[in-house]
Amino acid sequence: MRDGGTTAPAGLASAAKDSLCAAGATPCLPKTAFGERAMPEAIRESPARERKTRMLEEVRAGLSAQRKHLPSTYFYDRAGSRLFEQITRLPEYYLTRAERVLLMDRAPAWIAKLRPRSLIELGPGSAEKTRVILDALHVAETTGVYAPIDVSAAFLQETVARLRQEYPRLAMRPIVADMRGDLGVPSTLPRPALFAFLGSTIGNFERANAIRLLSRLRAAMLTDDRLLLGVDLKKDVRLIEAAYNDAQGVTAAFNRNVLRVLNRELGADFDPDSFEHLAFYASEHDRIEMHLVSNREQDVTIPGAGVFPFRLGESIRTEISCKYDRDDVESLFAGAGLVSEEWAAHPEGLFAIMLGAPAS
Ligand SMILES: C[S@@+](CC[C@H](N)C(=O)[O-])C[C@H]1O[C@@H](n2cnc3c(N)ncnc32)[C@H](O)[C@@H]1O
Repeated sequence: MRDGGTTAPAGLASAAKDSLCAAGATPCLPKTAFGERAMPEAIRESPARERKTRMLEEVRAGLSAQRKHLPSTYFYDRAGSRLFEQITRLPEYYLTRAERVLLMDRAPAWIAKLRPRSLIELGPGSAEKTRVILDALHVAETTGVYAPIDVSAAFLQETVARLRQEYPRLAMRPIVADMRGDLGVPSTLPRPALFAFLGSTIGNFERANAIRLLSRLRAAMLTDDRLLLGVDLKKDVRLIEAAYNDAQGVTAAFNRNVLRVLNRELGADFDPDSFEHLAFYASEHDRIEMHLVSNREQDVTIPGAGVFPFRLGESIRTEISCKYDRDDVESLFAGAGLVSEEWAAHPEGLFAIMLGAPAS
């Protein structure tokens, strides 16, 4: 089940947009406002050695812990990003559909009011929902540059290539970066900027790390910039657990993909079939925990990191996905120097988007 599809955005992207741009009625013209020559492609490869060193350190620390864990960032190579894309279309995965409903409802008014000249998005994935914002930007005749920031380099390139076809006159500044470090937001982007952090990716961060990340976002914002933060809401646990335990097993394949990434990038010898997918709601933390459970006693060797023994039934926690209410988000904002301007919640309480601004 596809999340609303791309018909409307793709349609908007052609004729109407071209005629507006050709008539000079919109500042989305790359050649006049932010010409391709003046603002060249900005795919900035994270240095491979830096990535490998960090990955090795994190994997060694995570697998040496009493309760083994791995950063969820390493799900996302090209295959992992494609699997996540499939997850967003699953009948059980309400998050994407609910957030899209909110964006379709609110984005036009937000954009008309803020009139941002840049859209800077953290972790866009396939940018399906971003198209709702891009279309609103186009209708408001305001957009200058779209700057998606993602760690999944090859998939980001695919996303940008598709957007280029759909929005031929939109200037793009794709940035490959790990959002857990320097966000790499160029200071030259036209302002005001709308920052978007959708898909409840913030939920993958423990509270302290979420505040750190939002603080870095805040530091990249100027007074008139705004942030759209998408969050998954606390609700009936059965609905939440179903979203991470789909009947087709796509989430299980996504979960195991982290082992494939470690095998390829670190030369590890994980046997993905010897780990079972487990996802459950940990009510004491208001979060989903996703694990890989060893279905036999085994040793896993990771060159440069060590040999890691697994007992039968021992698990690696591979992802957390925190669930929120409005107070939780206000509290994250307060910790990060942000203030909330508007809370848009799905009518069935499935999902919410907080519009935030830098605290003065
Ligand atoms: C849960 S998906 C959300 C995708 C999309 N925003 C959506 O709502 O469907 C998380 C996105 O963040 C990216 N990502 C994960 N960890 C990252 C990191 N540390 N730095 C940058 N991007 C990251 C992934 O590649 C993916 O595109």
